[in-house]
Amino acid sequence: MFNLILFGPPGSGKGTQSEKLINKFGLKHLSTGDLLRSEIANQTKLGLEAKSLMDKGQLVPDAVVVGMISSALDNNPYAKGFLFDGFPRTTAQAEALDNLLSQRGAAINILLALNVTEEELVKRLLNRGLTSGRSDDTNEEVVRARIVEYNKKTSAVADYYRQFDKVVMIKGEGTVDEIFDALCQAIMAKQTA
Ligand code: AP5
Ligand code: MG
Repeated sequence: MFNLILFGPPGSGKGTQSEKLINKFGLKHLSTGDLLRSEIANQTKLGLEAKSLMDKGQLVPDAVVVGMISSALDNNPYAKGFLFDGFPRTTAQAEALDNLLSQRGAAINILLALNVTEEELVKRLLNRGLTSGRSDDTNEEVVRARIVEYNKKTSAVADYYRQFDKVVMIKGEGTVDEIFDALCQAIMAKQTA
């Protein structure tokens, strides 16, 4: 199994690059943001509870997303590997993920961190908000709250994996294809190491 975390702040391009990477490397895409939005669309209890936090740009509780990921791993027993997008977002989630994978004889192989300036993030998200229908993209205050939440709780996840020498920083500005090439090179270097 080859398991990778595509890491970075809101708007850094995780979703955009995930679509291309899963096709090239045959991985199963697990995005906790997408899973939560599908719970909201289906009006489940979990979705309704998550929506009020997401609309404020705050993280949902660790137990909720860890439970969703655990089920997704169970539901895909024959996957060649997973691409985690938007997860883990706290050190507690990272520790839980390592446990879930080790119970299945697997581990995280690499964390690719997309590096984008705050001004570019805000510009991209507000621009997407014009058409995406995502309620957390339409208001600059909420967009900035998501970035604050990232700096406060999520950036530490890269430090957690750095101690195991699994982190590669990637410049997240440029064309989508340039960034994709840099991500592919980092993955292939790891696969042949
Ligand atoms: P989530 O859905 O994960 O959103 P996010 O991380 O805030 O970021 P985005 O998905 O908006 O950005 P992205 O990095 O995927 O970039 P994208 O490719 O879309 O989370 C939403 C919420 O759910 C959270 O706030 C939280 O409440 C909750 N949640 C989710 N996971 C959780 C967890 N694990 N724990 C707790 N709570 C959780 O690109 C953005 C835009 O930029 C697009 O319009 C795109 O077209 C454009 N773009 C992409 N690449 C480029 C480029 N190279 N140049 C110019 N524009 C570009
Ligand atoms: Mg995304």
